[in-house]
Amino acid sequence: MHVLDRLADTPVLTIDPIGQVLHQTPSAAFLFGDMTHQIGWERGGYYRWFTSPAERRHFCPSEHVLIGTEIAADLHHCLDGDKPSRVAVDLVTMLLDESAEFSGIWSQTTSATETLASRQACVVHSELGHVELHREVLADIESGLRLVIYLSTPGTAGHSKLQLLPVIGHQTRGARHLALELDRAMATYLREQLPFVEVVHADARDLGAVLAARDISEVTAVVSGLPWSLFNPVLQERILRQVAEAIGSEGVFTTFAYAHAARLPSARSFRLALEQTFHEVHLSGLVWRNVPPAFSYVCRRPKSTPVGTP
Ligand SMILES: C[S@@+](CC[C@H](N)C(=O)[O-])C[C@H]1O[C@@H](n2cnc3c(N)ncnc32)[C@H](O)[C@@H]1O
Repeated sequence: MHVLDRLADTPVLTIDPIGQVLHQTPSAAFLFGDMTHQIGWERGGYYRWFTSPAERRHFCPSEHVLIGTEIAADLHHCLDGDKPSRVAVDLVTMLLDESAEFSGIWSQTTSATETLASRQACVVHSELGHVELHREVLADIESGLRLVIYLSTPGTAGHSKLQLLPVIGHQTRGARHLALELDRAMATYLREQLPFVEVVHADARDLGAVLAARDISEVTAVVSGLPWSLFNPVLQERILRQVAEAIGSEGVFTTFAYAHAARLPSARSFRLALEQTFHEVHLSGLVWRNVPPAFSYVCRRPKSTPVGTP
């Protein structure tokens, strides 16, 4: 489990030989929902695949036949071993009895048919739609347990969608996500692409008013991609003051800057404004793989507003 704890941001399932999910990382729970709460036969993913049509909603229809075949081959594999487990025998008997589809696939597969192997997979998420991922399967031969890991390649749509999973996950616990965007066309585009985010067509300098209009009094984090080095010092300070008031003493503000622009007067004035606004201003290391290379600022604990500041 220690390994899985370190993979919290990656969707990983631990499954037993008959398809029961024994453990899932938080990211897997965001992607597939909680797969560990059922009891009895319903606990088994292989059983549910053939007996509960809703189970298939997590995967693209184009993969359903393949998944059915993988499950049947996996169960053949269980039964062909030296000592087939009673529970695997019972499961196959029950599925042959309850599912004509399973019976058909069972008669056409053997344990030599492709079982649960590494391959490209298309997962369906209720908010994110189709998510193209790479499925890796690591097996422990002795116990028959498998780690099923869903990976994404940085720069792909699948990767961006995976990164949004925790955002959506927090919403299920009552959190809200607001995005302020000045450009109307961009705001419309973002609304279409990210239906779970409340996109507001507004200027960041009006952050306080935008929050007040929505009765939001507590902000955990402000994440900004604003082009700070294009802003004059007055605008930089004005927006930062709004951010500071929004996050209060408990929240965090983060933004990024490009390395090549760091020497520009406007970039320097931004850095100064950050230091005048927050007690804590941390710089990340330079991310060379970003194009162009960039670093981020993480700021906490706003300083109190100077008396007489408008
Ligand atoms: C560099 S893009 C960042 C895109 C995206 N947020 C990101 O971080 O990848 C900057 C965005 O900030 C928006 N923008 C610029 N000035 C703004 C302001 N005063 N208030 C709100 N949005 C602003 C622009 O329209 C543009 O979409």
